Amino acid sequence: MFGKKKQQPQIDKEQLELIENAQKRIKQKKRLYAHFVLFLIGCVLLIVANTVLGIGKDFTIAGINWFVYAILIWLFLFIYHLFNVFITHKFMGKAWEQKQLEKLVAKQQARIDTLKEGLKKEEELQAKSEVFDEMNTPKPNLKTTKNSQLTIIVAAAENNAIGKGNQLIWHLGDDLKRFKALTSGHHIIMGRKTFESFPKPLPNRTHVVITRQTDYKVPLGVIVVNSLEDAIDASRGDKQPFIIGGGEIYKQALPIADKIELTRVHESFEADAFFPEIDPKVWKETHNTFHQKDANHDYEFSFITYERM
Ligand SMILES: NC(=O)c1ccc[n+]([C@@H]2O[C@H](COP(=O)([O-])OP(=O)(O)OC[C@H]3O[C@@H](n4cnc5c(N)ncnc54)[C@H](OP(=O)(O)O)[C@@H]3O)[C@@H](O)[C@H]2O)c1
Repeated sequence: MFGKKKQQPQIDKEQLELIENAQKRIKQKKRLYAHFVLFLIGCVLLIVANTVLGIGKDFTIAGINWFVYAILIWLFLFIYHLFNVFITHKFMGKAWEQKQLEKLVAKQQARIDTLKEGLKKEEELQAKSEVFDEMNTPKPNLKTTKNSQLTIIVAAAENNAIGKGNQLIWHLGDDLKRFKALTSGHHIIMGRKTFESFPKPLPNRTHVVITRQTDYKVPLGVIVVNSLEDAIDASRGDKQPFIIGGGEIYKQALPIADKIELTRVHESFEADAFFPEIDPKVWKETHNTFHQKDANHDYEFSFITYERM
């Protein structure tokens, strides 16, 4: 009762048309063949009638027997028939050919439209799956995927002052010791001005100096680069390259650094070089040690470590 309705075999309308046309064509050829046979028999009969039976024996035109003219006229008619079948109505006529061509074009167009539709759906699906993947793939954690930790090391006053006249503003022995302990054995990346503030390169560290000058001369072993990116690239083998200043370089490096080792000097100073503001929404304080003023240190200061959140 609920079975599928049996499909009635249907002959395609176009197929039917094709069959009909093919049958017509066969008939045309058969008629031509019959005409040819009739023509041959007719020729023989005409010749026999004239030459054997003597019909119209005396009827000649320009000295040629009448049956020759009769055969020539028939031959002309046969050639016309032949021409009609094979040339004029090559197949089923020009109009029929044109119609078939139009049908073919329409069919191809329909197929193109279907393919386009399919492609559109596929693209939509792909886009959806990409969005899905994007939403569900865990974001790579910069800190864990990067094999080095770019660290800024700086001593900054309460007003973020770091230097004046290309010199440090204070002398804090413990800060210099800490700087030495942390940076020894590592790459230290600096601006050209900071490099020039040293009497000579610091021992046991690879100096990477950033300058826009193309012919900047440095002592043997010092690396010169023309951008911060190149400086980081030059420090690739180092697990913890340090950005050591000054103000211009700190400003450019802060957005890409992973860690800050800050010595906060608890005073404000007049200066011409400054450290940028540390955004507490971006940086988390992970360590803080306070140091009192003493005989060797004119100011109170704190060693503070920040890590990018
Ligand atoms: N308190 C601290 O912890 C601390 C640490 C370091 C330095 N400092 C102080 O900071 C001051 C120096 O800082 P500063 O800001 O004047 O100079 P700087 O940052 O040391 O150097 C600036 C120079 O670096 C080069 N440079 C900067 N950005 C560049 C880029 N994107 N591409 C190529 N080259 C680039 C330029 O060199 P060219 O002009 O040759 O092209 C520029 O003149 C000094 O007073 C120093 O004592 C303080």
